[in-house]
Amino acid sequence: MKKIAFGLSTVALSLAAATAQAGEVEVLHWWTSGGEAAAINVLKQEMTDAGHTWKDFAVAGGGGESAMTVLKSRAIAGNPPASAQIKGPTIQEWGDLGFLTNLDDVAKQGDWDSVLPSVVSSAMKYDGHYVAAPVNVHRVNWMWANPEVFKKAGASIPTTWDQFITEAKKIKAAGYTPLAHGGQAWQDATLFEAIALAKGSKFYNSAFLSLSDDTLRSQDMIDVFTTFKAMREFVDPGFSGRDWNIATSMVINGEAAMQIMGDWAKGEFTAAGKKAGIDYVCYPAPGTSGQFTFNIDSLAMFQVDGDDAQAAQQDLARLILEPKFQETFNLNKGSIPARLNMPRDKFDTCAHASMDAFLASSTTGDLLPSYAHGMAVNSMVQGAINDVVTNFFNSESITAEEAVDKLARAVKAADM
Ligand code: GAL
Repeated sequence: MKKIAFGLSTVALSLAAATAQAGEVEVLHWWTSGGEAAAINVLKQEMTDAGHTWKDFAVAGGGGESAMTVLKSRAIAGNPPASAQIKGPTIQEWGDLGFLTNLDDVAKQGDWDSVLPSVVSSAMKYDGHYVAAPVNVHRVNWMWANPEVFKKAGASIPTTWDQFITEAKKIKAAGYTPLAHGGQAWQDATLFEAIALAKGSKFYNSAFLSLSDDTLRSQDMIDVFTTFKAMREFVDPGFSGRDWNIATSMVINGEAAMQIMGDWAKGEFTAAGKKAGIDYVCYPAPGTSGQFTFNIDSLAMFQVDGDDAQAAQQDLARLILEPKFQETFNLNKGSIPARLNMPRDKFDTCAHASMDAFLASSTTGDLLPSYAHGMAVNSMVQGAINDVVTNFFNSESITAEEAVDKLARAVKAADM
């Protein structure tokens, strides 16, 4: 370090002093939409300011499926990046394979055990040790709406799925697309999950955490599939394969009335200069107001060689938990800080609603891991559910009764 700092300006010298050791970190993520990129750039900037070199490894594709495929091939080749956005049970899978590195020292220095809610800290640990750093908490069960479109269509914001159908018909009759949607498996899953959630937290837990065969085959689950299929009438003909942020832009520009999507969608409204409560409104997905399906994004750290690389990686973990980063990143990302007791004043009404719901739901049993975003089940089970859900949404012939049978069987096979 001395060698590099010698003869540089005072600014560079003080930066060099602040950084014990500078190194390179390669970070794999899939944050490429407007809001997502603005958020990850905050981290990139902070790492650069700390004297490190950020090697961006962005693999486009909402929900991260492509990113995970690329991560696997890099790991198989014996060359994983220093850090990757992985989350929930997938952290455990990588831990089991012996790829992750220990962050306990940084966590101890930053007192992670007390500044993080336990639902967050426990997800960051493998075998009792920190291996990942949380950047945020996303609420998944949100509905984003364009109030202008509602006004023009003479429709009201639905608070149940039955009402959603009634209002969506009015919106369609007025010439707008009621539901902005992208036909990709993870987006179908996000919509399906929101509909299932409205059947209650007990049902949700039983279906997606306990994987109860009875619940997966129940009349309630048949109803969920039926309501889910009803949504087909409310998407536009071009929905297939559309990216989620393009769907969000349909709500932003007044082509569509609503989108059911996690609050990364808010990052798109923010990036477009739109204001919550004025240009757009956020409501819990119909029938889910007291509930909170969470999706915690985190950067897990892989074992890397070299003191510099390891120092940079530990510094990345440290920076992620800093209050300033948690604030700026989340203002851009649409999520709320993973850290507790953060100042709320810079956040908008949707974020405040999310913060309140997060705390309240954690005391009522309504704080639930999003299966659609890899927080509840392993990737095999998640993939099995997604296949059934997506095939059903796109099929003319599969009945809801057949779908639940397929679901129960696919889950059983994947969970062996
Ligand atoms: C989620 C991820 C979010 C997000 C979204 C769309 O799985 O947790 O951070 O941006 O995918 O890419």
